[in-house]
Amino acid sequence: MLALFKKSAAVSLPAALLFTGLALAHGNVTPQGVNTEGLPPLSGELTENPYRKDQKVYAKAIEIGSSAFNQNCARCHGLGAVSGGIAPDLRNLPAGGEGDEFFQMRIRHGSVRNGVTYMPPFESVFSEQAIWAIRSYLDSVRVDN
Ligand code: HEC
Repeated sequence: MLALFKKSAAVSLPAALLFTGLALAHGNVTPQGVNTEGLPPLSGELTENPYRKDQKVYAKAIEIGSSAFNQNCARCHGLGAVSGGIAPDLRNLPAGGEGDEFFQMRIRHGSVRNGVTYMPPFESVFSEQAIWAIRSYLDSVRVDN
């Protein structure tokens, strides 16, 4: 009984943060550009994460992606990519190239169905480096289920 209580107390704080985030989402939240200094330049619209190949670059990409994610995505997808149930839990994206392709399509174009924007497009906000830094971060928190 005590253990159960502790567990629910632990989840209530992130939930509170998420709702604060949602309140902000209804205001005018300007997407934050991402400083990608330290990452090799990229060109074109890649469909696979180019930063996985080099461990040092990959570590830098994860660090930059973590901050970019928390500034731009966490208000819907949750801090640390742990979804509170409002938007999909991004720790469950498929690994490797399969997940990359879906991820880059979604982050560029967002999700609009029947005229309703579920997720805004980030194509005009992020550089190619920023997109793959965020993907690298999501790799680092991925869980199998
Ligand atoms: C305004 C809220 C909002 C923001 C901000 C947002 N998303 Fe989303 N995202 C959603 C919703 C809602 C969905 C589900 C869309 C659907 O069902 O069509 C989604 C879906 C996704 C998916 C597909 C997941 C799946 O399993 O289907 C990915 C990948 C994704 N978002 C990445 C991101 C990233 C990366 C960012 C930050 C750059 C971001 N999102 C910012 C609301 C948001």
